Amino acid sequence: MSVRRLAPDAVQPASFAFDASNREWVKAQIAKYPPGRQASAVIPLLWQAQKQADGWLSKAAIEHVAQVLEMPPIRVMEVATFYTMFNLEPVGTYFVQLCGTVPCHCMGAEDLKKTLKARIGDERHVSADGKFSWLEVECLGACTNAPMVQINDDYFEDLTQETLGRLLDDLAAGKPVKVGPQNGRKASEPKDSIKTLLDPALYDGSLVGGWKKAFDERAAAQKKAKEEAAKAAEAAKAAAPAPAPAAAPAPAAKAGPEPAAAKPAAAKPVPAKPVPAKPVPAKPAPAKPAAKAEEPAPVGDEFKPDLLKKARGGKADDLELIWGVGPKLAAMLNRMGVYHFDQIAGWTDQNLAWVDQNLEGFKGRAKRDDWIGQSKKLASGWRPTNAAGDKPAE
Ligand code: FES
Repeated sequence: MSVRRLAPDAVQPASFAFDASNREWVKAQIAKYPPGRQASAVIPLLWQAQKQADGWLSKAAIEHVAQVLEMPPIRVMEVATFYTMFNLEPVGTYFVQLCGTVPCHCMGAEDLKKTLKARIGDERHVSADGKFSWLEVECLGACTNAPMVQINDDYFEDLTQETLGRLLDDLAAGKPVKVGPQNGRKASEPKDSIKTLLDPALYDGSLVGGWKKAFDERAAAQKKAKEEAAKAAEAAKAAAPAPAPAAAPAPAAKAGPEPAAAKPAAAKPVPAKPVPAKPVPAKPAPAKPAAKAEEPAPVGDEFKPDLLKKARGGKADDLELIWGVGPKLAAMLNRMGVYHFDQIAGWTDQNLAWVDQNLEGFKGRAKRDDWIGQSKKLASGWRPTNAAGDKPAE
């Protein structure tokens, strides 16, 4: 991968700002994240800025996104230069990304590259009419339809030099083009002698919504078959004859000589074959209940810290600047009488433990996130510069 740098100053616009409709969109994106965590919207905002600015990100656009998200510009620059989805130099109206990874390479990507060079010019170069530019990229995930290109948001697959040339001609002439495979097949089905998925209803949308019904019907049929099998097994068990009692063993013959007038010998009794006992499956030993985590000993009220009836000067500190404290926890702390960083900074470990045990639903947070340490820094005037704030090391 080549080094990703900003475009030369000569092509950098003097300024950038989101237009009115994008400003609304940006607001909606930021609102998806908790207050103070707006930096999470950096990728969607950069993407929207790129769309507004004809497909590439200028320095001014990156700085504008940083300003909107209250982030240091270098942080936004890091994101923009890392992800190849962001173009850092001007692109044509039709930006062609040619996959050059092994499957596409083996299927003719080098030939497509020749076509692009002949029709558009060098890579990263916008054609004289401003309509085209191209770039070789890594696998775009359509390897079964190799070789392929992505043009703006669409994939064009199963290309040859001829079909790619025709595609570029049609785009240049403003004609409608067919997205997807260019060799007549549907998606990634076999090209010839197709034997499956032949039902046209699979492709005309008429089955949409029918899948659930089909699955439900199949699940109901399976359940019914299972119940019937269980009933049949019960009935067979009830009808089976009770096992015969085992015959008593024959008495052992007495040792010694036979008397002279011996009685005719009785038929030797055949000992009954013992019925093999049905193996009884061993009862699994009941699982031992998991050991209960040891509850910390309750902290008495003698360790309750000094609490306030209201914020000093009528203005509470923004407790959400403490890493790990969100709006809900901040409101709980205020209700408890905690409004200021210096209050928390002055607590002992026992004070902290007392507060911790009274934060219903958030027990353990105060100690885990080192509120005392964080509050000492905040009370001294330090402020976080990014969303990670003063996140304690794990
Ligand atoms: S190798 Fe070209 S799309 Fe995967």
